[in-house]
Amino acid sequence: MHSFIALAALSLGAGVLGQQVGTLTTETHPAMSISRCTKTGGCTTEDHTVTLDANWRWLHSTADSTNCYTGQTWDATLCPDPATCAQNCALDGADYAGTYGITSTGEALTMTLKTGSNVGSRVYLLGPKQENYVMFNLKNKEFTFDVDVSNLPCGLNGAVYFVEMDRDGGKSEFADNKAGAPYGTGYCDSQCPKDIKFINGKANIDGWTPSTGNTNTGTGDTGSCCNEMDIWEANKISAAVTPHVCNKAGQTACTTDTACGAAGVCDRAGCDFNSYRMGNESFYGAGKTVNTNTKFTIVTQFITKDGTDTGDLSEIRRIYVQDGVVIQNSKSDIADVSGNSITDDFCAAQKTAFGDDNTFAARGGLAAMGDAFERGMVLVMSIWDDYAAEMRWLDAPYPADAATTKPGVVRGTCAADSGVPATVESQNGAASVTYSNIKVGPIGSTYS
Ligand SMILES: *[C@@H]1O[C@H](CO)[C@@H](O)[C@H](O)[C@H]1NC(C)=O
Repeated sequence: MHSFIALAALSLGAGVLGQQVGTLTTETHPAMSISRCTKTGGCTTEDHTVTLDANWRWLHSTADSTNCYTGQTWDATLCPDPATCAQNCALDGADYAGTYGITSTGEALTMTLKTGSNVGSRVYLLGPKQENYVMFNLKNKEFTFDVDVSNLPCGLNGAVYFVEMDRDGGKSEFADNKAGAPYGTGYCDSQCPKDIKFINGKANIDGWTPSTGNTNTGTGDTGSCCNEMDIWEANKISAAVTPHVCNKAGQTACTTDTACGAAGVCDRAGCDFNSYRMGNESFYGAGKTVNTNTKFTIVTQFITKDGTDTGDLSEIRRIYVQDGVVIQNSKSDIADVSGNSITDDFCAAQKTAFGDDNTFAARGGLAAMGDAFERGMVLVMSIWDDYAAEMRWLDAPYPADAATTKPGVVRGTCAADSGVPATVESQNGAASVTYSNIKVGPIGSTYS
């Protein structure tokens, strides 16, 4: 649910590559190391970097600094059709700190909501040669990181998640994509976002419609769908862990409202575990059991049915660690929904209790999520506000017209109108989130 991008209105400057590569701004990927852990041998550091998603980058003519895209509009001369546009336009390098408010210490990454006219950002973990994304398979493993959400109020979302993008961002498959992973191409997720400017090597200009709320975005006829594992979608008030699956493997374009929509390729709703929504109002938040006033560690375990790396994914467990104390996830307090982890049984019971269709099971459930990991998924970190639903699905009553007494409607203590983008951007532009200390390894190897 994090696909609604607020694009920067970039100042004009120097060179780039659209789906080509531009060179007017030097691209220096911020460093971001991760640790690979073993049960007995400790952890080893791997040096990586992150790269900014292509949608946020300056897109200009390969010949000069003429914009290919400004605000909500494509340049008609440079972009007469999808293929010519991809050939004529270049994605440029990014000034991470200056333009986007993204800073790194090497192992801690801080993302700021608003910097100048830029709102939000999304980055991907890039491998050692800075050519391809790092691919993760978390089956029978755990993924651990530290987060500081103390400066992330209602209406905002600091997200850490995995999507089944192509390892090279689509560069080898699509001839008109010369930029690839180093320039953050190839994004997809379970919302099948249509605001992506280039999909499968072509500009998404057909049917391009300016967004009604956001002066920097629009949507084309094509969406970009894929499996998505939301490890962490959260702010200081609420948090959710949510697998979303699709009925197609890998990144895939959708071109009809049906295919891109709720009844289409992907399970847009997912199967979420949000402690507040599951009835425990004292577990997560400022001064609560997991105290969001200070940093804490999030452990997410991907258990397989037979306890091997190749078995079907059968359970997603959550553990927190704060000030040296290991805190098991809260249990469901909803009638007829038991447990403190995500299993196919939990999802079925939760959907029934809340009166929702089980769109997750309909597309294969946890086993399908595990299959996506086996093929490999890309690590995403982002900060965003929500032009579609004002983040109410995370931290406030949602849907807006439902009775707040109905089980599952209230997701956190935020007011129904607290996530209006124009308000959060003007009042909380300096909001930020910091992710650090990423670790991956067998179950039980990354925390104590
Ligand atoms: C919420 O979770 C905490 C920690 O697991 C627990 O001690 C407390 O009893 C729970 N509260 C409710 C209302 O379930």
